[in-house]
Amino acid sequence: MKKHFFISTAIDYPNARPHIGHAYEKIVADVIARFKRLQGFNVHFSTGTDEHGLKIQRCAEREGKTPKEFVDGMSQHFKEMCKELGISYDDFIRTTEKRHEKVAQAVFKKLWNKKEIYKDRYKGPYCVECETFYSKEDLIDGKCPVHKKELDFVDEENYFFKMSKYRDKLVEHIKKNKNFIIPEPKRIEILNRLKERLKDLSVSRTSFKWGIPVPIDEKHVQYVWLDALLNYISTIDYPDGENFKKFWPADVHLIGKDIVWHHTVIWGSILMALGLQLPKTVMVHGFITVEGQKMSKSLGNVVDPLALIDKYGPDVVRYYLLNEIPTFEDGDFSEARLIEKTNNELIANFGNFVYRVLSFLKANFDSKIPKHGELVKEDKALLAKVEKTKEAVCKAMEDYKLQDAIRAVFELSAEGNRYFQKKEPWATIKSDKRDCATALYVSVNVVRALATLFWPFLPFACERLWKQLKLEAVDGELGKQLFEDVEKLTLKPGHVIGDIEPLFKKIEG
Ligand code: MSP
Repeated sequence: MKKHFFISTAIDYPNARPHIGHAYEKIVADVIARFKRLQGFNVHFSTGTDEHGLKIQRCAEREGKTPKEFVDGMSQHFKEMCKELGISYDDFIRTTEKRHEKVAQAVFKKLWNKKEIYKDRYKGPYCVECETFYSKEDLIDGKCPVHKKELDFVDEENYFFKMSKYRDKLVEHIKKNKNFIIPEPKRIEILNRLKERLKDLSVSRTSFKWGIPVPIDEKHVQYVWLDALLNYISTIDYPDGENFKKFWPADVHLIGKDIVWHHTVIWGSILMALGLQLPKTVMVHGFITVEGQKMSKSLGNVVDPLALIDKYGPDVVRYYLLNEIPTFEDGDFSEARLIEKTNNELIANFGNFVYRVLSFLKANFDSKIPKHGELVKEDKALLAKVEKTKEAVCKAMEDYKLQDAIRAVFELSAEGNRYFQKKEPWATIKSDKRDCATALYVSVNVVRALATLFWPFLPFACERLWKQLKLEAVDGELGKQLFEDVEKLTLKPGHVIGDIEPLFKKIEG
């Protein structure tokens, strides 16, 4: 039976257009999803938009639109970003969709029936930006500890979820399951926060209307975080769908560092109250700064991923973010560095190697892979490096260290370049045609391996390369076959490659 793998990203607030941080998270998830598919997993990859709440309502009002009109327009930008970046999601879920609202209401009712929810009065500060309630002790100078802005004061009847009673169970779960929160410092952070008393959670609002109605009391709408977290089970048709049976518990919830509490403590206790298993891993990636500064509208330094893709193409953006930013740490975005790295690494290392090998094959062997001579030590060593690279990539991907994985593939490409340079086929074509043929046979098979190993990271370029190598005939499951069956799918003498052109264009200026 096929193994199943469920990875989700956070669902973004479509209160403004997507920024580079949103794009980065989707790219990381996409690489993991593609890699798992190569390994033969049946993957469910979900992403989407988180469309309710006061923040969205206020943004819509400012634009003179109804909240629904506003999110209908805005969520399209997020979808478009995914399309342009090659994000291979299986589901793009919007929390305003009926299928989601149905689940959110059913869950509320279930928790109410199980007496996990009760009604009480709530008085206290609320940050609209975070869509989060704070207690007085949480505030810094009376302001939101995250946004440093004034808070709204709320005094109203609320429904409360009995989160406090799950504290001990959560601590036990987090201590026992070392991979529940990665990386380790985030796990420790949450354990430390759980040393304090855990309060019950207000899960409804009456002060605004833009939310999913509470099924037992239509004056209330659901707290946006309860609504949002439930996307992880509505995307797989909770409670009775086939996908729910196959894919729950999720393997990875990929999120940024500002929402770890919501995904571990709030979501964990809700799942416990529902009698469901917790996700296997909440994976916390770093935050992107821009030229050393936090991204913000007021600083005017928000990087628009769509504009970037337009200018440089999706693979360049993917390559830069994946190679530059350690998966679990913060990283910086700089356009100058993107240009430098693209020209000096992506093109000089990978692009040039591929083009040198394939154009030599075309010019000197009629595009046909030649019969090689006996493979000697250095030929065998390079072909063995293909296997070793595959192992290194698998290991790095098992730990979700994408930067290590992509760098390992680049090392193979660099090794291929060095080999080609050393073998001097342009000289041996005249002096020792057999040796030249061997060098070409080995090099072109390294190119073929790169076309597969790079695919999760650089899907557009690699699919072009598959075509250039005339590998498309193998059919839709091509990547997986190439990955699993390195030996069988080695390009054999006699194979004729297709039309070639450079994979990337040098960025001028
Ligand atoms: N809507 C909530 C998530 C609900 S998930 C059930 C939300 N939305 S968000 O639009 O503010 O953020 C979406 C994701 O992008 C989060 O994982 C967040 O951490 C991440 N990022 C936001 N800014 C970021 C950077 N500057 N860099 C990297 N990721 C960033 O939170």
